[in-house]
Amino acid sequence: MDPVKVGILGLGTVGGGTVNVLTRNAEEITRRAGRGIEVVQAAARDLSQPRICSTDGISLTTKPEDVVNNPDIDVVVELIGGDTLARSLVMQAIQNGKHVVTANKALIAKYGNEIFAEAQKKGVMVAFEAAVAGGIPIIKALREGLSGNSIEWLAGIINGTGNFILTEMRDKGRNFEDVLAEAQRLGYAEADPTFDVEGIDAAHKLTILASIAFGIPLQFDAAYTEGISQITREDVNYAEELGYRIKHLGVAKRTEAGIELRVHPTLIPERRLIASVDGVMNAVLVKGDAVGSTLYYGAGAGADPTASAVVADIVDVTRTLTSDPENRVPHLAFQPDAISQSNIQILPIDEIHTAYYLRMDVTDKPGVLADLTRIIGDAGISIEAFIQKEPETADADARIIILTHLIAEQQMNKAITQIEKMPVIHGKVTRIRVEYLDKD
Ligand code: HSE
Repeated sequence: MDPVKVGILGLGTVGGGTVNVLTRNAEEITRRAGRGIEVVQAAARDLSQPRICSTDGISLTTKPEDVVNNPDIDVVVELIGGDTLARSLVMQAIQNGKHVVTANKALIAKYGNEIFAEAQKKGVMVAFEAAVAGGIPIIKALREGLSGNSIEWLAGIINGTGNFILTEMRDKGRNFEDVLAEAQRLGYAEADPTFDVEGIDAAHKLTILASIAFGIPLQFDAAYTEGISQITREDVNYAEELGYRIKHLGVAKRTEAGIELRVHPTLIPERRLIASVDGVMNAVLVKGDAVGSTLYYGAGAGADPTASAVVADIVDVTRTLTSDPENRVPHLAFQPDAISQSNIQILPIDEIHTAYYLRMDVTDKPGVLADLTRIIGDAGISIEAFIQKEPETADADARIIILTHLIAEQQMNKAITQIEKMPVIHGKVTRIRVEYLDKD
């Protein structure tokens, strides 16, 4: 059988890695796919740039439209990122009847609904394993391996840059800005690093995971995002003292009221395996009703790990070329009609329930704690743990750290507003959500 002809948009880190993996493992990949896979054309912005891969035998162009409109090409691999040019190229490729493989999380999270609808119409595949958690086959696991389950929740460390920053702050006592600069130098960070530190990149990935887990349309705009830039070394140390690690977590949880979809710094008990996921590594914990908790761990970025996912998708597309479109695994795991008819709501952040870590500075005098705990108690909030750090000098503030039990976010917000009005409280109350990541 003739080899499948592939065109690549973007020959940077992931594009170069994809060519390398396809070349290095060509024989085994052919044995798996049932036919050869040949990269015939690639588009790159600047053809004079040095590459991490050989481009022998690949026709190069600076015009991505050449690839998308090339009648010889069966599969277009989109690795240019962003959601403007990438969106129009992917739509054009689909309209031209080509299958698409993409690593573009922003594109899928924001425009996946229209892309999949168009792909459905044209009977082509759009595969996106590399869009979430790099080399970890989490899309495959959720979409196929766990398809017998009702997924209850999932929680992931799905941004390597943010995890690297928090790990270095904890292990080496380094400052946020220094570590971010290093992550940028090492090439982990997004072109705009605020996407990493403010949780936008993680929210793109979480949106995709939630859709596949719960059979709901992609709703990136409904995801709550909170970054890690307010986390201090002291918070990291206090959390440790209480037996927790702070991770930038994406959480998607099914509740009776709707779906919680949120990315924020989170205290996790240090005895959980996922709490030990350090540096740029990613991990996703999925709780299914039948299987229980499952954990997926691996490299969330980098040339070869991301190429591993891209190539797996190319192999999948190759295998399905001869199958009827209606017999393929649906793009988002659930049948398209079942997704569009779903009436499951994403909850506003006010309506979520978590435990909380609170940190505040108070005047060190009698009665302060009694007043504080009365406000907390009157708000229906139960305290799980409490630490008071003595002031360093007689007239300095004392520092108080409180861990609470589960409470609705809006009740916690009301209590924080009242606490911040107390004259003995100085500055803002720092609030970090806590997830136990066990049964519920
Ligand atoms: N900037 C992303 C990260 C790259 O740090 O995880 C992979 O999506």
